[in-house]
Amino acid sequence: MIKQAIIPLAGLGTRMLPLTKVLPKEMWPLGYKSILENILDECFDAGIEDVIFVISKNKHLIKQYFKKNKSLENIIKNKPDILKSLKYLNKISNKIRFVYQDKPRGLGHAVLCAERFIESKYFLLLLPDDIIKGKNCSKELSKINKKKNSSVVAIRKVKKKEVNRYGIIGIENNNDFKINYMVEKPSIKTSPSQYAIIGRYLLNKSIFKFLKKQKSGRLGEIQITDAMNLMLKDENFYGCRFRGKYLDCGTIEGYIKSFKEFNN
Ligand code: UTP
Repeated sequence: MIKQAIIPLAGLGTRMLPLTKVLPKEMWPLGYKSILENILDECFDAGIEDVIFVISKNKHLIKQYFKKNKSLENIIKNKPDILKSLKYLNKISNKIRFVYQDKPRGLGHAVLCAERFIESKYFLLLLPDDIIKGKNCSKELSKINKKKNSSVVAIRKVKKKEVNRYGIIGIENNNDFKINYMVEKPSIKTSPSQYAIIGRYLLNKSIFKFLKKQKSGRLGEIQITDAMNLMLKDENFYGCRFRGKYLDCGTIEGYIKSFKEFNN
């Protein structure tokens, strides 16, 4: 059973500025909860016991939100539904740890910042921009990990013209989606397939070794896709075509669609 998860939250959220200037997008509502709490529900339902949030100084509101607040419980003690939600929030805060990324040096670097907390052989990595509704994607990844004893990423078929917006995988065959190549934002001409990596990863902690080998790219960022591409030369890696509905909460248009989906 996978017990630990990393949730990187230290990005700048530039695509949703100025709305993200003060309130991090992860705290925006989706249904009765924030985007981040929806992600946490997926984690806990999949058996995760220890969650590591990678934040920056600009994201201190996230830390504040998950800080225990007993005085609020006293104020609303006559409203049982709200009290229940607050108590639940206090309870889950025991399972969350925080680590800081000093500068937004890319997703790969954010994951490296959490290295010292990872104890088990495998851990989950969840990107809150990607919501998967209806089925628990983390559980689906865990099942494949158990069967194949290897790392797994969630994948989804995208339109040809969209491949240059995603990390894309090359596969050995369509039966079990064994991956033989990964590339970040390829051109339409050079893309190895139309299968895009979505923000759920179940990784062997050997990924840290490969992340450390990465040189910063043009914008000073360390890409996780490049590290995974090195890793799959050494060990097996599989894709998981998940069954739930994919919702993109990383852009304003995507967020509005997702909000409607949760509220109809
Ligand atoms: P994105 O590349 O989507 O960046 O990061 P972003 O900051 O969220 O949004 P835009 O593109 O500027 O609008 C994917 C995930 O990795 C985290 C982000 O918080 C997000 O969850 N991340 C990214 C970090 O934690 N640190 C980084 O340096 C970069």
